[in-house]
Amino acid sequence: MATERTFSIIKPDATERNLTGKINAVFEGAGLRIVGQRRIRMTRAQAEQFYGEHKERPFFGELVEFMTSAPVVIQVLEGENAILKHREVMGATNPANAAEGTIRKLFAKSVGENSVHGSDGPEAATREIALFFKEEEIVG
Ligand code: RTP
Ligand code: MG
Repeated sequence: MATERTFSIIKPDATERNLTGKINAVFEGAGLRIVGQRRIRMTRAQAEQFYGEHKERPFFGELVEFMTSAPVVIQVLEGENAILKHREVMGATNPANAAEGTIRKLFAKSVGENSVHGSDGPEAATREIALFFKEEEIVG
């Protein structure tokens, strides 16, 4: 295993309910170090670019509306096997299918308003981090 970085978003449904600290505690408890973090209001253009792979999906419009509806916290997480570890602690996309103790089981409201995003592989992680962070903003 190697030290990896992954890209994380604490989504609007979670920032609105002041869950940033509780979610960060889960990440840190799993050995994921928060090496970059910024609270932003995502623009429509940023959300459309970020979720470009889902452009043809029926939920795309709703997803862009949601991600721009309130502030999000964007993060770079670092640790051993960080990409997979992060996805494990997030749980399944649909909270109805998420395992006990995962962030989505604990906090998500629905399959759309599901509290967190995590990169799904090394290429996505590199691309997503570069979309939002300059290298000097990441302090490992
Ligand atoms: P994410 O990209 O946010 O980490 O989540 P994921 O890999 O588990 O899910 P993905 O299939 O990539 O979908 C991206 C986000 O789109 C919303 N979604 N809504 N209404 C729906 O059926 C539906 N399906 C997906 C969710 O916010 C999901 O996280
Ligand atoms: Mg995804």
